[in-house]
Amino acid sequence: MLARTRPFTPSGTQLLQRSLAACVCDDVIEEAELHVHVGNLDALRFYERHGFVSVATCIDYYPRLDPPEAVLLRLRLHAE
Ligand SMILES: CC(C)(COP(=O)(O)OP(=O)(O)OC[C@H]1O[C@@H](n2cnc3c(N)ncnc32)[C@H](O)[C@@H]1OP(=O)(O)O)[C@@H](O)C(=O)NCCC(=O)NCCS
Repeated sequence: MLARTRPFTPSGTQLLQRSLAACVCDDVIEEAELHVHVGNLDALRFYERHGFVSVATCIDYYPRLDPPEAVLLRLRLHAE
């Protein structure tokens, strides 16, 4: 999970770019995947702004949350 803490940390964008930097340099790693709670619209928009695409809804992924669904997002790290 990516989370920006206030007030002195880097932005979410900077945290994401740092997290993906090593993967982007490695040809063996083809894509990044993550799950976001279906109700977390800010996070969904954030990842979509950074090129992630929703590929599936995962039922009962968060059993303690209501609703329990997660969106699976995927980012291809290299051009085809
Ligand atoms: C999702 C999340 C990581 C996105 O991070 P974010 O920093 O808000 O996203 P962005 O990098 O797009 O920044 C949004 C705006 O805040 C500004 N900002 C972010 N951090 C800042 C900082 N430290 N100082 C000044 N401005 C900052 C950005 O410049 C940007 O402004 P803009 O829209 O005018 O360009 C963040 O909202 C978060 O931690 N959410 C809670 C945890 C969560 O839901 N995580 C995802 C679960 S999988």
